[in-house]
Amino acid sequence: MRGMESRDAPARPTVLASAPEELTRQRLRRLGEGIGKVVYASEHWVVRRERSPSEIAALIIIWRLLRKLAHVLPGGERLLQRPSRRIRLLRLIVQALVLVLPRGLWYTTHIGAMWRLYRERGERGERLARSRLQGTGLLPEEITFPPTRVQVGGWLGWLTVSQAVERVEATLHARLAELAAAGRFDDLERWLNRLLEFRQSGWRRGLFSLDAHLKNFGVCGDRIVLIDTGGLTDRWSEIESRLEWEEDVAEPHVRLGLGPLLASRPDIAERFDARWRAAVSRDGVRRHWPE
Ligand SMILES: Nc1ncnc2c1ncn2[C@@H]1O[C@H](COP(=O)(O)OP(=O)(O)O)[C@@H](O)[C@H]1O
Ligand SMILES: [Mg+2]
Repeated sequence: MRGMESRDAPARPTVLASAPEELTRQRLRRLGEGIGKVVYASEHWVVRRERSPSEIAALIIIWRLLRKLAHVLPGGERLLQRPSRRIRLLRLIVQALVLVLPRGLWYTTHIGAMWRLYRERGERGERLARSRLQGTGLLPEEITFPPTRVQVGGWLGWLTVSQAVERVEATLHARLAELAAAGRFDDLERWLNRLLEFRQSGWRRGLFSLDAHLKNFGVCGDRIVLIDTGGLTDRWSEIESRLEWEEDVAEPHVRLGLGPLLASRPDIAERFDARWRAAVSRDGVRRHWPE
């Protein structure tokens, strides 16, 4: 079975006898973060630190609070869009609270349920990506090596890692923002179309992402790759209820955070919304779904 997949990229992570030198030569820069991971980078590779359960719980609490307060709190919207130093501080405070509560307590709350859902989706997505996407060119390259201590920026200081992932040129979100700022709207629209094609090639493999926002995709040359496999699913019931919700979104480009980028180009926004609505729907996905 593996043999069939070995066309363009290695089917398994490449195993190295030692970590690439650039990972140990210098302190790695903090490149990005999500709810579950913090990502540090050298020139060509990134390594990931998985956040602890209390850290994730704290972020979920803050996220929910900010979302509720976004319209009354000045700057609330902006805080949501870019995790800042202030969020980090807030996170440490909330995390301290989470840590003094008995685990059994927050575990039974809504936050606990969200945390479990997040963790399950992460694990399942990784498993599905390993079995169905490796060797397809849809994922960034991955390498493994013996456990190696690397220096990282921030209070942590260092980290022991045994795998690294190809560093993408930019997240799709960052690339689209750059292109809009440079007024390169034809290129921007091309990337939007590539995103839809990319998602469809996943559906043809029987995979759907429940977490398909623009910071979870990366750009390599003229390709899109999936940098965050969390949220991948092959369960039609789950996909269907998600799509039911998607079908009610009036302006997909606004939900994806493209409102400000496309403010001067309502024509592109309109074309994209129409394409998105036709593709990201129960009929649209079923058309590509394998038997
Ligand atoms: N291979 C990569 N190359 C460059 N940046 C990356 C890479 N992987 C992750 N990142 C950055 O780190 C962020 C968080 O990574 P992600 O895997 O999405 O974590 P989470 O599961 O917490 O959402 C991404 O949005 C992106 O900015
Ligand atoms: Mg992510």
